[in-house]
Amino acid sequence: MAIAYMEKEKLFWIDTKNTSYVIGIVDKEQFVGHVYYGKRMQRQDIFYLMRTGEAPFVPSKNNRERSAFLDSLPMEYAGDGLGDYRESSISVKTKGGHAGVSLAFGSYEIKKGKPRLNGLPATFYREEDMRGEGANEECMTLILHCRDEALELDIDLLYTAFEQEDVITRSVTVRNTGKNELFLTKVFSASLDLDNQDFEMVTLHGSWARERQVEYREIGYGKQSVGSLRGVSSHQEHPFLALKEKNAGEDTGSVYAMHFVYSGNFLAQAERTQHNMIRMTMGIHPKNFSWRLGTSEEFCTPEAILTYSSAGMGQMTRNLHDMYRNHLIRGKYKDKKRPVLINNWEATYFDFDTERLLDIAKRAAGLGIEMLVMDDGWFGHRNSDNSSLGDWQVNEEKIIGGLKHLVDEVNALGMRFGIWFEPEMVSPDSKLYRKHPDWAIKIPGREPALSRNQYVLDFSRSDVREYVYESVAQILHGANIEYVKWDMNRQLSDLGSAFLSPECQGELSHRYVLGLYELQERLIQEFPDLLLENCSGGGARFDPGMLYYSPQIWCSDDTDAIERLKIQEGTAMIYPLSAIGAHVSDCPNHTVGRSTPFETRGIVALAGTFGYELDITKISEEEQQMIPKQIEVYHKYNDLIRRGDYYRIASYSANHEYDCYMVVSKDKREALMTYIQVLGEPNRRSRRICLKGLKPEYNYRINGKDRVYGGDVLMSGGILIESRKGDFKGEIFYLNAQESVIKDKKLDKKNDKNIK
Ligand code: DGJ
Repeated sequence: MAIAYMEKEKLFWIDTKNTSYVIGIVDKEQFVGHVYYGKRMQRQDIFYLMRTGEAPFVPSKNNRERSAFLDSLPMEYAGDGLGDYRESSISVKTKGGHAGVSLAFGSYEIKKGKPRLNGLPATFYREEDMRGEGANEECMTLILHCRDEALELDIDLLYTAFEQEDVITRSVTVRNTGKNELFLTKVFSASLDLDNQDFEMVTLHGSWARERQVEYREIGYGKQSVGSLRGVSSHQEHPFLALKEKNAGEDTGSVYAMHFVYSGNFLAQAERTQHNMIRMTMGIHPKNFSWRLGTSEEFCTPEAILTYSSAGMGQMTRNLHDMYRNHLIRGKYKDKKRPVLINNWEATYFDFDTERLLDIAKRAAGLGIEMLVMDDGWFGHRNSDNSSLGDWQVNEEKIIGGLKHLVDEVNALGMRFGIWFEPEMVSPDSKLYRKHPDWAIKIPGREPALSRNQYVLDFSRSDVREYVYESVAQILHGANIEYVKWDMNRQLSDLGSAFLSPECQGELSHRYVLGLYELQERLIQEFPDLLLENCSGGGARFDPGMLYYSPQIWCSDDTDAIERLKIQEGTAMIYPLSAIGAHVSDCPNHTVGRSTPFETRGIVALAGTFGYELDITKISEEEQQMIPKQIEVYHKYNDLIRRGDYYRIASYSANHEYDCYMVVSKDKREALMTYIQVLGEPNRRSRRICLKGLKPEYNYRINGKDRVYGGDVLMSGGILIESRKGDFKGEIFYLNAQESVIKDKKLDKKNDKNIK
C-alpha cells in the first residue's frame, strides 16, 4: 500500500515508485512534523530525523517550552505567531483581533483514490472517477485531521500519492466549528522543511513576449520568493519553484519541485533559516487576502503538486509531464491530435471581413490546414482595442451575412471553425459598461486604471457570470463552432467589488478565480466537443489550473522561432508539449523583426499544438508550397511528440548557440530529435550530440537511412551534426527501432561520418 501509518513509531509513510515522504507526530504536543522527503526507502523508524531530542540554545536540556524548539522543528504545516518565527502556513484573525494558530494532530484517514476539491481544478486518478473517489492503490490519499482548540478550527491536511508519476499532491481544508466568525488571512497549500543540501532555486520569470525564462539562483539566508499579485498567474513570475542541488544537472542530482494548480495570486517561497534548513512554501498570496469564515463554513485551498527527482531536472520534467497528461488534462482532446489551425490575428489584426477570412480559408484549405480561427474584432464595433468588450454580438458590417454564413462557408471548404472571446473584460466604450458600470472591478471614489483600454468584470458576482456565460453560449449555439480561444488581456487592479460587503473585499481576487473556474467548467460541460485554448496577452494564463479546463494554452505572442526556443524550453520544463500553443508566423517577425527560414519556423512549432498565424494569401509561393510538407510532418510525428518522454539535450538560453531536445516513445522504439543551429559559425567541425532516453540494446535507424546505430552508441558516442552555413538552421532526426532492427544486433559496417 502506498500510504501506511506506523503506529508504534508515530509515522505516516507515503511511497511512490521512487520516492518516500514521511510525516511524524510529535507526541506531547501532537505537532505534525516533517521527517523525510526524497529517494524511496524501506519503512523503518526514522523519527530521529526530526531532531526532537536536540537541544536548541540550551546545551544541557531539551527545553520544549522554549520557542527555540518550535522555531527549529521541521513542520508539515506551520502555525502562526506562537514561537515558530519562520514563514507560517496559515494566519487567522479572531473577532478579538488576535492572530495565533497552532495545529494539533487528532486523527487520520487513509483511502483509495482522491477526493475532489470543490470548485477548484485538481488532479484526479481517472477522469471517469472524478465524481467519486477513485478506487485504485496507485492513487491513495492521507488526510490528517488537525485542530486548533483555542480557535475551534479544524484543519485537514490532504496528501495524495500518485505512485507511477512520483507525485504527491497537497491541499488543506479549514473548517470553523466555533460560534464566532474568523478571518483567514493566509492559507497556504504546502510547506516543506528540508535540510539544505546546497540547494539553488529554479524559477521561471518573464514579461509579455518573453514568458517562462529559466532562472537559477543561490538561496541566501532569509526569504526569497516569486509571486503574483496581478490576479492571474502572470507573464512575470510563474507558480512554480524547484530546489535543486547546485551540482544537479539535467540527468543527475536531487530536485524538489512544487507547482501550483491555481490561476490567481500566488506566493512560492524558499526561506533559509538560522539552522541552514529550507522552508519551501506554496499558496495563495496572503497580501490583501482575507476570507471570512462563518460558523460551520469551510475553506479549501488549491492544490500544490510536489515531485522529487534523484535524477536531475529532466526526470522532474518527465514526472510533471506524465502527471498532467494522465491526471489533470481532461476531455475529448486530452490525448488527441489537434487540428492544424490558421489564426487571423497576425494576418489581419482588426482589419478583416467575411471576404478576407474566406480568402485566407480557401488558400489554407487547399494546402491542408484544417481549421480557421477568427480572432479579436468580430463583435460590437471593435476595429481597434479600444471598444466593445462585453458586447458579444456579431458585427454584421464585417461579418457580412452573419456568423453562421461564415462558418458554413468555412465548413464547406472542409475546414472547421474557431472563434476568439475575451469574456472577463468590459470596454468603457460598450453598451454593457454603460448599462452596468458597477459590474467592473473598481474602488468607490477612484477612477479605475485602464489597461489596454479595458476594465475587468467582477466575476465574484453571479449576475455577471450569468451574463457572460449566456453571451458566449449563445454565439456557440448559433453556428458550428468547434474551438474557442479564451483570452484575457489585462491584469487585475483597483480591487473593489460593488457586490461584496466591506469585510469581504479581501476575498475578491480568489472569488474572481473561482468565478472563472465555474464559467469554464460550465462551458466544457455544455460543449464537451469544444476545443478550448486559454490565453492571456500571450502566455500569462499558462498554469496547471487552466490546464484542467483547456488541453492547450497559448504560449506567447512572441512567435519568432528563435525567441520561442527559450520560451518553449522554459514552458516544456514543466508542461507537456501537447499543451503548448505554437504557430508558424510571417517574417520579419512582428515582435522582434527577425527573419528565419520558413522550414525552421515549422520545426520549432512542432514542439506544441501546430498551426499558422499569417496571411497565407500574402506569403511567397515558395513558402506556401512548404506548408503541405510541414503539415505532413506534424501528422506523422505528433502522436510521438504528444505522448513521448521529453529529454532536453542542449539549451539555447544557456549556450547561446544551438538548441536540441528529444522526445522518446514510452516503449523506446521511436524518437524524434530537433536541432536548431541558431548561429552559424565559421570553420567549425561537426557537433557531437549525445542522445538520451533510448534503449541501449536497441538498434536505431535514423531518418530511414540504411545504417543502424546501437542505442548505447547514440547515447554515449552520439551523432555528428554537420556544421551549418548561415543562421537559424533547423533539422529533425527521426529514429526508429523496428522489430527486425531490434533483433539484428550486428551493426552495419558502413560508417557514415555525418547523418544527413
Ligand atoms: C492577445 C493574444 O495573445 C493574441 O493572440 C490575440 O488574440 C490578441 N490578444 C487579440 O486581442
